Amino acid sequence: MSIEQNNDSSVDLKRRRILTGVTGVVGAAGATFLAVPFVSSWQPSEKAKAAGAPVNADISKLQSGQMLTVEWRGKPVWIVRRTPEMLAGLPALDGDLRDPASNESDQPAYCQNATRAVKEEYLVVVGVCTHLGCAPLYRPAIGSPDVSADWQGGFFCPCHGSRFDLAGRVFKSVPAPTNLEIPPYHFINDSIVRIGEGPTAGGAA
Ligand code: FES
Repeated sequence: MSIEQNNDSSVDLKRRRILTGVTGVVGAAGATFLAVPFVSSWQPSEKAKAAGAPVNADISKLQSGQMLTVEWRGKPVWIVRRTPEMLAGLPALDGDLRDPASNESDQPAYCQNATRAVKEEYLVVVGVCTHLGCAPLYRPAIGSPDVSADWQGGFFCPCHGSRFDLAGRVFKSVPAPTNLEIPPYHFINDSIVRIGEGPTAGGAA
């Protein structure tokens, strides 16, 4: 092997080492770059965690017929303490409703029942119209003048005229496609409802 060849070989070897090193750095940088979004997608920020956290609502002062609003995940959640008369009127509306048994609507399995509730006296429902997301109005009185003379009480969305009964079930022939959503929740005791968390093995329903 000539000296010149030997020099060429050592230059080639050096270049290859440098290139291998550079490739390794780029590769490592690429892997780091790829890893960041992957890791962050698995680690929600404290703010995001707080936004999704369950909230407790004190219902001890809620009178029969009244509605309380709490915020959960940036949405209003209504808690309505239904009177015996309100509950008694629900079955008669089934024929006028789009999804009376809530087969096509969103609610936890433990609320897919006649009153859509854990305890029938309390309706806990997300106060967002399932049409385009407006906030319906609580209109509990029979024949409320801004709804209709035959109104039996419920929720009215004036945006496009959707109507829901006192179980949040949508009427036929209105724009909203499904019943109002029921969030996961459970009763910690007779006074506190925890919204955002369903009944657990150790928690009271
Ligand atoms: S948003 Fe409620 S009727 Fe359209």
